[in-house]
Amino acid sequence: MIRSVLPDDVVAVTFDELDLSDEAALAALHPVEAEQIGGAVVKRRVEFAAARACAREAMTRLGVPTGPIIRGGRGMPVWPAGVVGTLTHTDGLRAAALAPADRVRSLGLDVEPHGPLTEGVLDAVSLPEEAAWVRAARGEVGTVHWDRLLFTAKEATYKAWFPLTRRWLGFADAHITLTPTVVDDESATGVLRSRILVDPHAVDGGPDLVEFHGRWAVRDGYVASAIVLRHVDGR
Ligand SMILES: CC(C)(COP(=O)(O)OP(=O)(O)OC[C@H]1O[C@@H](n2cnc3c(N)ncnc32)[C@H](O)[C@@H]1OP(=O)(O)O)[C@@H](O)C(=O)NCCC(=O)NCCS
Repeated sequence: MIRSVLPDDVVAVTFDELDLSDEAALAALHPVEAEQIGGAVVKRRVEFAAARACAREAMTRLGVPTGPIIRGGRGMPVWPAGVVGTLTHTDGLRAAALAPADRVRSLGLDVEPHGPLTEGVLDAVSLPEEAAWVRAARGEVGTVHWDRLLFTAKEATYKAWFPLTRRWLGFADAHITLTPTVVDDESATGVLRSRILVDPHAVDGGPDLVEFHGRWAVRDGYVASAIVLRHVDGR
């Protein structure tokens, strides 16, 4: 599911692949990580630890030394030198996606259970034109919760945006376009584009963040969106 929204040079790991208990993931936290999350409730500590276990497995698969992933400003994960990544956790699914920093500039992954947003939330998290598109798409293809999909695309956008700008990006600050490629009764996949509507200046020395591109999928009761931003020379 996660892999289907990511290209081959991004390593994606889900917690259920690891054959690790929640307790073992907690015990494996790096001391600095354990200190950061120590005051949280158990559920939060477990998701924090499980996602980091996935990230360390991804580092191993990438052949880079595993190190702590601390929470930086506004919750941004701070990656060891040489990698970029993104974490997500929701009921029953914890995952990490990582790539070499010389190939990928930023990543954003978001997964949610595939169900409708609570009444009224769509209008709060979308531009009027996005909400109109969702309502029309709902009429055409009722098997996909387009509102939830849009929400994951927004959150994936924020996760890719923030590490490069260190600035807030509100739900009205990017215009998402969702294009389905395959839709059947069991699943759906497609591509997405996030057009940034605010100051696109990045602080990593790279070009302005005018647009992000990515993929989405609905499968196995989840909906996932992923953004992959490459360096300008496309390495
Ligand atoms: C930060 C946010 C996107 C997280 O999404 P979520 O669905 O609540 O939670 P997920 O489990 O999928 O992701 C949590 C992970 O996001 C990552 N994250 C949190 N803040 C982040 C930030 N500022 N930048 C990048 N990644 C961040 C962290 O790795 C976090 O896991 P951790 O705390 O265990 O390290 C969300 O809470 C939020 O603040 N959204 C508002 C901003 C937004 O979406 N704007 C829309 C722009 S179009």
